[in-house]
Amino acid sequence: MGIKVYETISALRAAQAGWAGPIGFVPTMGYLHAGHISLVHHARAENETVVASIFLNPTQFGPDEDLSKYPRDLPHDLAFLEEAGVHAVFGPTVEQMYPPGYFTYVEPMGTLAEHLEAVRRPGHFRGVATVVTKLFNIVAPDNAYFGQKDAQQVAVLRALVRDLNMPLALHVLPTIREADGLAMSSRNSYLNLRERAAATVLSRALRAGQAAVSDAPDGDANAVRAAMREVVAGEPLATLDYADVCDPDTFEPLATLRTPALLAIAARIGHTRLIDNFLLKASGEWETGHGVES
Ligand code: PAJ
Repeated sequence: MGIKVYETISALRAAQAGWAGPIGFVPTMGYLHAGHISLVHHARAENETVVASIFLNPTQFGPDEDLSKYPRDLPHDLAFLEEAGVHAVFGPTVEQMYPPGYFTYVEPMGTLAEHLEAVRRPGHFRGVATVVTKLFNIVAPDNAYFGQKDAQQVAVLRALVRDLNMPLALHVLPTIREADGLAMSSRNSYLNLRERAAATVLSRALRAGQAAVSDAPDGDANAVRAAMREVVAGEPLATLDYADVCDPDTFEPLATLRTPALLAIAARIGHTRLIDNFLLKASGEWETGHGVES
């Protein structure tokens, strides 16, 4: 048998005619871990056909970012996806997606483009919105699956689907964590042993922020920011980028706590930049992620 891998848009389109609906889609940049596989499991449960993509999208990386050294392991990824029950993989070349003479980009505007990741990584969400639009047009899924781990990406893509009237449903699944709380990420492979131990500082800071919210649920959001910052200050290998409390849809910073609210953190551990978040939902419940499902 073997999993079907399509490298061209025309080959994927030709195969599509034979697929049973609904179609579930899991876009990735490869170097897959249990977080990606949890998206596949949800897609499998809700769709007849599950398609994953593996495409290291150059337009979402800045000039000083890690595109050239981003980890890759296609044989491992394909074995992992096959075992998880994916029916087809779209794995195009850069030339397939951005041929010579490529003109068109999708640009998120407004507050989502003015805060946190958007400011630290100029052009990042333009690259994400562009490639996801293209992937949606190519794969034509009924359902698409994303991780809460990348909270601002989720907000950007929710706005994209809504604003451009895309005929599909977005599903956002909880962050999958290592046993010690570190959010799974392809970038964790950059960490050496000491950095790997220090990297738990992000989830530890979020837990301190969560406790500060519980202490004063209608209080000053700055007290929560301070609680998170204090934990990061105690970790010598970590350099804080931001520890913020914002609206999970607009990403505008909150002055006073309320629901919903997102605690978002970014820090450098050595040379590796990591992000994480805890979501306080409108219902007042927390979405903080969980360990690998057995
Ligand atoms: P990538 O970083 O490979 O992530 C693919 C999907 O897996 C994203 O939806 C991401 O949020 C999710 N994910 C990553 N780590 C996770 C974790 N620990 N738990 C749960 N889900 C997790 O995000 C991208 O690729 C790209 O920006 C992409 C959307 C594919 C566009 O290029």
